[in-house]
Amino acid sequence: MKITTIVGARPQFIKAAPVSSKLRSTSNIQEVLVHTGQHYDENMSDVFFQELEIPSPDYHLGIGSGNHGAQTGRMLEEIEKVLLTEKPDWVLVYGDTNSTLAGALCAAKLHIPIAHVEAGLRSFNRRMPEEINRVLTDHAANILFAPTTAAVENLRNEGILEKKVHLVGDVMYDAAIYYGAIASQKSKVLEYLSLTPQNYILATVHRAENTDNLSRLQAIFSGLTAVAKKIPVVLPLHPRTRAALSRNGLLEEMTHNLQLIEPVGYLDMVMLEKNSLLIATDSGGVQKEAFFYQVPCVTLREETEWVELVQSGWNKLIPPTSEYFVFSGIKNTLNHKPHMQDTVSGLYGGGFASEQIVKLLATES
Ligand code: UD1
Ligand code: UDP
Repeated sequence: MKITTIVGARPQFIKAAPVSSKLRSTSNIQEVLVHTGQHYDENMSDVFFQELEIPSPDYHLGIGSGNHGAQTGRMLEEIEKVLLTEKPDWVLVYGDTNSTLAGALCAAKLHIPIAHVEAGLRSFNRRMPEEINRVLTDHAANILFAPTTAAVENLRNEGILEKKVHLVGDVMYDAAIYYGAIASQKSKVLEYLSLTPQNYILATVHRAENTDNLSRLQAIFSGLTAVAKKIPVVLPLHPRTRAALSRNGLLEEMTHNLQLIEPVGYLDMVMLEKNSLLIATDSGGVQKEAFFYQVPCVTLREETEWVELVQSGWNKLIPPTSEYFVFSGIKNTLNHKPHMQDTVSGLYGGGFASEQIVKLLATES
């Protein structure tokens, strides 16, 4: 069976790593890996292939950045060529980026069955590009691997046939277990950044709704600056956010107030997460990793796809509409640390999501 995997953005390299490793150790499966090139900086792409030992892509499409239509359109054109050449039995896509949608759409038009990992997540906010990408991909997919019971419920509510949907758990938890142990042995990031465990806050910001809206961008960065007067705030800066700060003349001031660093590799990120006192983020993946490592989390958004973490009280949603909200949201969470009955395995599976995905795909031939 030939499976063409399509990835392109940072979180997809992390999600694909454990699945790809299982695919390649299954005798009757051949994986052809396609990197769209949506993310291309060394620290947004190559570092993950090296650290997570993902094989070099068979096709690197070099699409790069652009407006949604232009970027997705270029992907469609190039992925179609690959699929026409390779004629795979399945196309495997991850998450909700433009690379996900382009892969799914191309496959659908060529009548190639689509497998979607991380199916069924919803923010119910159609202004998010990711929400459109997820909904369209789920409705085009032939087999849907849902990470949570909430995701299964969302798919049921949208009328997707139950027999297509499989609750397998979260592949990011598989990655956290396997690579998390390696991170503890290999990463020297705390020494390198002169950080003391439990004595800093880790933040990440990259969502378009936060970076492309000046008032929200200012609220987040002023709020983090207020926090940094009490405890260091370390922030690996996504290139979108660096560009937004620079465009608005805020970069120099924030470099002074916060410990802004370049995006880090996964192993260093895990170490930064594990040892932080609190995580403030608008990232989907980082919200869950906070829970995996039992670090309190403040999510700088109005809504989240990982609703179980909010319902159980681990994660606090703080809409970043003012400096005060951001500052007080972090301060209150530090003062009232969450307690949780639910276990990671209870919410996200036991770390066997990749294994289940590959087993199910292998029996679909
Ligand atoms: C994309 C995904 C988002 C995901 C995020 C993970 C979509 C619509 N969005 O958002 O769901 O959470 O990836 O990080 O697919 N840039 C660089 N170098 C790079 C990559 C990007 O400089 O290697 C800059 C460019 O200026 C680019 C901007 O970042 O225009 C945004 O990149 P893009 O891939 O379009 O979206 P993300 O914000 O990264
Ligand atoms: N991550 C990383 N280095 C960084 C920032 C994030 O390795 O500097 C990892 C993080 O640990 C998580 C994933 O990237 O596994 C999340 O990706 P991102 O926040 O870009 O996207 P999202 O999950 O929001 O789609």
